[in-house]
Amino acid sequence: MAESMQGLKRTHRCTEVNSSHIGQTVTVMGWVQKRRNLGAMIFIDLRDRSGLLQLVFDENDCGKENFDKAYTLRSEFVIAATGVVEKRSGAVNESLKTGDIEIRVHSLRILSVSETPPFPIEDGISTREDLRLQYRYLDLRRPELQRNLMMRSKIAILTREFMSREGFIEIETPMLGKSTPEGARDYLVPSRVHPGSFYALPQSPQLFKQLLMVSGYDRYFQIARCFRDEDLRADRQPDFTQIDMELSFVDEEDIMDVNERLLKYLFKEVLGLDIKTPFPRMPWREAMDRFGSDKPDVRFGMELKNVSEIVKDCGFGVFTGALAAGGSVRGINVPGEGHMPRKKIDALTDMAKGMGAKGLAYICVGCGEGGAHKSSFAKFMKPEEMDALVAALDGKEGDLLLFAADKDTIVFNVLGSLRLEMAKRQGLLKKDEYAFLWVTEFPQFEYSEEEGRFVAMHHPFTMPMEEDLDKLETDQGAVRARAYDIVLNGNEIGGGSIRIHQDDVQTRMFRALGFSDERAQEQFGFLLKAFRYGVPPHGGLAYGLDRLAMLMAGADSLRDVIAFPKAKDASDLMMEAPAPVEEKQLKELAISVEDN
Ligand code: AMO
Ligand code: AMP
Repeated sequence: MAESMQGLKRTHRCTEVNSSHIGQTVTVMGWVQKRRNLGAMIFIDLRDRSGLLQLVFDENDCGKENFDKAYTLRSEFVIAATGVVEKRSGAVNESLKTGDIEIRVHSLRILSVSETPPFPIEDGISTREDLRLQYRYLDLRRPELQRNLMMRSKIAILTREFMSREGFIEIETPMLGKSTPEGARDYLVPSRVHPGSFYALPQSPQLFKQLLMVSGYDRYFQIARCFRDEDLRADRQPDFTQIDMELSFVDEEDIMDVNERLLKYLFKEVLGLDIKTPFPRMPWREAMDRFGSDKPDVRFGMELKNVSEIVKDCGFGVFTGALAAGGSVRGINVPGEGHMPRKKIDALTDMAKGMGAKGLAYICVGCGEGGAHKSSFAKFMKPEEMDALVAALDGKEGDLLLFAADKDTIVFNVLGSLRLEMAKRQGLLKKDEYAFLWVTEFPQFEYSEEEGRFVAMHHPFTMPMEEDLDKLETDQGAVRARAYDIVLNGNEIGGGSIRIHQDDVQTRMFRALGFSDERAQEQFGFLLKAFRYGVPPHGGLAYGLDRLAMLMAGADSLRDVIAFPKAKDASDLMMEAPAPVEEKQLKELAISVEDN
């Protein structure tokens, strides 16, 4: 029978007990990690969120009843134990915070029994993730996840404290809003009162926070739940959290400054690290050219080099063909990998093909017979052209040079990804090294093949750069935005922009995005109307709190810092959501479901 509290009070968490308490009586409560019987003694490792503590049952101290009870304890039973703190009788366990003490128990209560858990509650288990997600409440008992969630809580609390100190007001915005066509796919919520109409869950509080600036709140922040129906990856969840902020009467500098100070504060308080501010800044164009990515990992080099000029008249059709089609030829130097076996190079080529490349050309510098270069395309090239390529990539004997020739988007994707892959293999991605970077001057628009028009790269409320405003109607591809992302170790942890605060510019922006004036009115009329009543210049930024917590915790997946995350197919394996609903519910909502 499970016993109840009956007024018993816990005096300490497990690892709050230490050698200064020797001789004192304490009461601890938690889960049984392990039981060991050693003749007339029973040892229990007791676990709570703080860590482990050893309990000792000796029949002479605790009496037969308690001893017999201790004998029945199994993993994950919940118990309360009262006893005296003593110096550990056996060898000190250096790996435990409480390794030099133990509790000689004189009273035991079994508060709850447990079935055998489907996997051991400890770090470093190799249990399949779907099983862990199905029993998430057990997975969450593991020290690693407990540490992560406690760190996340600390980040949130410190953020609130910092923002409040800086004069930001925390304001909640609605979960039930309106579907808007830009951005990711919305999660829709049917309305019972308005049959056939739908709310949308917010992808971000973007419009509300801009309206709060119109309302004069000046500095707003929110730890905001956001919902996006996107294809999931390790760094994307359908249901995630932003640290969202908006400021009035500011330029980029003000926003960057307050955010650098926020991150400095968080890293100091949470990790004890002094990060260097201000962070370096890099225009988007430069990030793409040098790293093949708009979120470059700048912890290591291996930068891309454009070699189009060198190969423009060469005899290798793959290169000249790509150039003739308006593309480019670029390469990276992977130091010291020139002796990579052919099979492995072929595997890299397959990786490149998986990203849309037609192939991957390589030079193994000086790795052929008699110190010649080994290369997949030397036969098409003059020796001086090969030398020029090697020199352009600063190739030393034993280096591996990889080249991609294609449309820029493919070349960047392929070389940017190979650069990361090779850095990973070479152990260059150190988790305890934090390289921050602002990426600025993003393109305002990107062309969507799917929609056959330009769409906003960030969102339609982002202010174009002053000097590009006149290209809004004539040369959209060349318009740069007053947008900035904050990148940490190759992850976009946040992004924001200075907003359009003039209704005429906003109207031009909607037109540039292919909206008729009627459609813009229908979708965003409330915003355009608000902009007629006095709008302060404003701008803001939002972090992915999950991503920030993931990087600070050194975790590899957002799922490791979210209490109840979704699986790869966006389902909740524990509560089995999404799920069909009753016919009656559908009827009330005037919804009929097609059979699949
Ligand atoms: P953006 O769309 O760039 O900007 O989002 C801001 C940050 O949110 C995080 N993020 C995600 N995290 C987990 N799962 C997802 N599916 C996901 N999508 C985005 C990223 C990203 O940098 N309203 C604007 C901000 C602004 O302009 O102020 C916005 O939402 O870390
Ligand atoms: P091929 O003459 O087609 O055998 O190609 C010679 C080499 O060029 C091989 O290593 C191919 O993988 C490589 N290659 C083919 N297409 C491309 C491309 N678009 N960019 C870079 N290398 C390529």
